[in-house]
Amino acid sequence: MLVTFEGGEGSGKSTQAKLLYDHFVAEGLDAIFVREPGSTPVAEGIRSFLLTGRSDGISPNTEALLFMAARSDLWLNVIIPALNAGKIVVSDRSQDSTVVYQGICKGVDRTLIDNIFRSFAGDVIPRRTYLFDIDPLVGIARSLSRAGNKETIFEDMGLEYHRKVRFGFLDLAQKNPGRFVVLDGELSVTELYDRIVADIGALIAQRLPQGLQELTTASS
Ligand code: TYD
Repeated sequence: MLVTFEGGEGSGKSTQAKLLYDHFVAEGLDAIFVREPGSTPVAEGIRSFLLTGRSDGISPNTEALLFMAARSDLWLNVIIPALNAGKIVVSDRSQDSTVVYQGICKGVDRTLIDNIFRSFAGDVIPRRTYLFDIDPLVGIARSLSRAGNKETIFEDMGLEYHRKVRFGFLDLAQKNPGRFVVLDGELSVTELYDRIVADIGALIAQRLPQGLQELTTASS
């Protein structure tokens, strides 16, 4: 099962992604945690190139191809093997980020982005995507105030851009209601965590055989 976390800058998604991973581990489930771009040596190299200022002036198309290259490396080497081994994969960002940031917001051809994704992911898509929705003014302020944050390339884009990101994600969520759960990024860490754990618990229970489903319902 693949679970992804998406949202704008400073929306709180990374905190919750890690908390959910810790929850799975505490429950004794076989889970891994990844972030995009990143989580393999190649993808981390692409990440530092893209996010720390060295890619200044890059065209949207090239930027999209680099995000996709990082994703391809991570999916082929880590995500697909983990899913095939029956593990739960928790991913901080994934394909939806490229669709929104490079596709919807920077005009990169959506068919190109979708086709590259299918070339390595096949028909795998997340079972659940948590979208953290937040006013960009609040989110960017949070993100920039984080001590030691040197990956500010995307935070430095104008407010209009971040509004587009927000509505791009909300539009994707509206078009994929079975996959997305939209969460208010201004809720407390505990409130968000409780909602996510309740939702994922229900999803996992659905996948268990009938007898075990009844057992989990009876014990909760
Ligand atoms: P992330 O590490 O999630 O940073 P933050 O927690 O500040 O949101 O993402 C890094 C940046 O990369 C973020 O600004 C969004 C951008 N991004 C894209 O533009 N396209 C992509 O495909 C991905 C995965 C990220």
